[in-house]
Amino acid sequence: MEKRIFDTGEDTAAALAAELYNRIAEVQGEVYIALSGGSTPTLLFSILSADYSQKIEWSRVKFFWVDERAVPPEDVQSNYRMTAETLLNHINIPDTNVFRIRGESPVKKEVLTYAEIIRTNVPFVNGLPVFDIILLGLGDDGHTASIFPDQMELLKSKEICAEAVQPQSGQTRMTLTGPVINNSRSVYFLVCGKNKEDMVKRILNKDPRYPASFIQPNKGHLYFYLDKEAAGE
Ligand code: 6PG
Repeated sequence: MEKRIFDTGEDTAAALAAELYNRIAEVQGEVYIALSGGSTPTLLFSILSADYSQKIEWSRVKFFWVDERAVPPEDVQSNYRMTAETLLNHINIPDTNVFRIRGESPVKKEVLTYAEIIRTNVPFVNGLPVFDIILLGLGDDGHTASIFPDQMELLKSKEICAEAVQPQSGQTRMTLTGPVINNSRSVYFLVCGKNKEDMVKRILNKDPRYPASFIQPNKGHLYFYLDKEAAGE
């Protein structure tokens, strides 16, 4: 596990953008990336749009999602909509390289459909899909993806994609499961802001009460990109 700390959220996102550029350049052929939603990634996506739209060979990049809310893609809560507005609409990536979770579909059906889409389009190693890069955020309750502290069984699920529920709002979600995330070649947590400081400390200490503590790629690399506030410096 490697911690990389930067002064501001913008500096942290800019450093992660440069890292992703380098990692994509290192990969021969297609690059399989799973993206998280929420607000933090908008920093990263805006920088990728502004500074890397012509630098990265987007035709080699295949985008999937780590999780999605059970809402239509035009809904303001949609992770796909956020990604389209801050990244996809600003880069030259073929539509066929973008595999969104259909939040508008019945969840029990979509988790099976999306798992099949992953089976068909993502290489497998050890009987599980292997992503080159997975981008994760951290909730101040210690969740990551849509694996919440009251649904820790998703960390060990045999499914590729599963139904979840946001405990405060009751909102239905769809999420990649722990084994899939931990089968990836590299996982990048991007965490910024003072409100995350306490939880970052708990996760770095592998506090077993929180799902994010169990994210540890079996053979891959784990990075925490933190601004000074989240790192408690
Ligand atoms: C989501 C994300 C979720 C997010 C954390 C942190 O669908 O909301 O996948 O896991 O990464 O909730 O969210 P913020 O970046 O908004 O703090």
